Amino acid sequence: MKTYITTPIYYVNAQPHLGHAYTTIVADTYCRFCRLRGDEVRFQTGTDEHGDKIAEAATNENVAPKSYADRISAMFRDTWPLLQVAPDNFIRTTDSDHIKVVQDILQQVYDKGDIYFDEYSGLYCRGCERFLTEKELVDGNCPDHQRPPQEIAEQNYFFRMSKYQQQLIDHITANPEFITPERYRNEVLSFLSEPLEDLCISRPKSRLTWGIELPFDDNFVTYVWFDALINYLTGLGYPDGSLYQDFWGDTEHVIAKDILKPHAIYWPTMLLSMGIPLYKKLHVHGYWNIDDAKMSKSIGNVVRPRALVEDYGVDTLRYFVLREMSFGLDSSFSDQAIVARQNSDLANDLGNLYSRTTAMLNKYCAGNVPEPGEAEDSDRELVATAEQMLQSYEKNMATFHFHKGLQAVWELIGKANKYIVSNEPWSLAKEPDNGRRLATVMYNLVESLRLLALVLRPVMPETAVKMAVGLGYGSDDAVVNSLAAGGRWGVLVPGLSLQKIDALFPRIASKAPASGQQKKPKKQAKPKGKAVTAHEGLLTIDQFRDIVIKVGEIIAAERVKKSEKLLKLTVNLAETRTIVAGIGQYYQPEELVGLQVLVVANLQPAKLMGITSEGMVLAAKNVVDGEERLVLATVSQTVLPGAQVS
Ligand code: MSP
Repeated sequence: MKTYITTPIYYVNAQPHLGHAYTTIVADTYCRFCRLRGDEVRFQTGTDEHGDKIAEAATNENVAPKSYADRISAMFRDTWPLLQVAPDNFIRTTDSDHIKVVQDILQQVYDKGDIYFDEYSGLYCRGCERFLTEKELVDGNCPDHQRPPQEIAEQNYFFRMSKYQQQLIDHITANPEFITPERYRNEVLSFLSEPLEDLCISRPKSRLTWGIELPFDDNFVTYVWFDALINYLTGLGYPDGSLYQDFWGDTEHVIAKDILKPHAIYWPTMLLSMGIPLYKKLHVHGYWNIDDAKMSKSIGNVVRPRALVEDYGVDTLRYFVLREMSFGLDSSFSDQAIVARQNSDLANDLGNLYSRTTAMLNKYCAGNVPEPGEAEDSDRELVATAEQMLQSYEKNMATFHFHKGLQAVWELIGKANKYIVSNEPWSLAKEPDNGRRLATVMYNLVESLRLLALVLRPVMPETAVKMAVGLGYGSDDAVVNSLAAGGRWGVLVPGLSLQKIDALFPRIASKAPASGQQKKPKKQAKPKGKAVTAHEGLLTIDQFRDIVIKVGEIIAAERVKKSEKLLKLTVNLAETRTIVAGIGQYYQPEELVGLQVLVVANLQPAKLMGITSEGMVLAAKNVVDGEERLVLATVSQTVLPGAQVS
């Protein structure tokens, strides 16, 4: 199988932040996953360098647009290796081959009669570099850039986008996986249910010179989106390159929802006009927010990937973003959340499993993997969990449900940690008669670690290689680097000798927000109205504001094994969380799914029966006939998951 995976090409008016890093880490992880399953992959990212806002940023710095673009583009290019992101191609829209392809395509579409000249007036957002409709505005402002668009009237060239509306609707309807997750497919279909306007594709040179000149009228340059989207073709050497022949049919684009319309409507209609097959898939994710606002340069609340790598390490950052965000939904970034994941999932669960297993192998088996004996029930359970993990991992990674893929991996880690506790290798080691059983237990634990090194490779490349080398493999041995060669239980060969490596993940202390995210100290609220005196035991309004209560929708519920009281809930708070609740005596798991409940959302994570609980659901204590019962607190009408309660 072949895969061509792309990120958006990023504007060079701002330095890379966590939002750009997320999309690029996702594309890199998917690329590595595809290679792990044996695909031939090409991965492209790059920078988008023409247009109003780049010209303006250059003017502000008193430099020519090209030298400005050179500087910021290099910052993007230099950031990716720090994140272990390894694209095969880094494209720039100022590259001469790209400019030629854009002009050839414009001429072709013009000759076909799909471009015409007309007068237009509309509301232009410079942040989005496109005209917005009245409907898209919120209180007169662009919702993404939080400022009003400019009214612009001028003569321009237009692309007959409307001509391809029905063909596009038909394609989306016939291909459910063309745009995913489904919510974005529905959003596009709903937008297409109204008549589509034609697309303005030029800017007069009198207003903008920093762009690609139209081949049929040198008084105009092309509009940034017509220029930018074509990068996906240029990067494959379109029209004659062999890469184009080999890969175009297997193109998958990754973007965030801000640029859904250009990718789901402009781009496919452009391709239809050019007579080029449509890309295969568009994967759309949500926003990284800080304090409920999208992280963006215009709002100024950005977190820099370089600082995050310095503070936490590259693999922790990659794991965190992939595990924390449900692909498609928004997620909140905080330093506390990374620290919690690092300490709980990485240092505690994975790190401990690795260090306990290798320490025991060294102590009881001289560091060599022993020959296993007869399997018992607990061994079979471990093997079954490993097999389920492999299935769930492959399915979820292939469909961009990275957080679910990782959940499955952590099921195996949890199971293996429990397996150590229940089999007590230290007790087995005391009795020479138990040697065979000890060998089986140790073999199974090392085999679990080998599988973990294999499946974690796309997500945490450095850690996975370190684990593999520590187990005695070469960093590129197929059984730790290919699902076909190593993606099943029992591939580990007895006799392998451990190598010494450093601890995988140190625990880190919780710290003040750093990473470039400057939190302003909270202003002391001035008491309004009458002066109030302090009351012992009562909260001030500021103390109350520190407690974040949100509405969460329960999307899954199950009993926690060996506990009567605890239920494990999966709750959508605009991000997915796991919450362990002591309501098992009062509710059946099946009756909870779909219920909207109130959740304290900013509690430190706590471990209950080995499960990390990321919040608390609120419930009222009710006493009927002398018997106490907990009743969950809900809202009186359905609201958007994640809505704040105040
Ligand atoms: N240049 C255009 C894209 C042209 S593609 C043919 C552009 N550039 S951008 O620099 O604004 O990048 C937008 C993309 O950056 C988003 O689609 C997303 O991939 C990433 N992100 C920027 N901010 C983000 C968040 N706060 N959260 C998640 N991703 C975000 O649009």
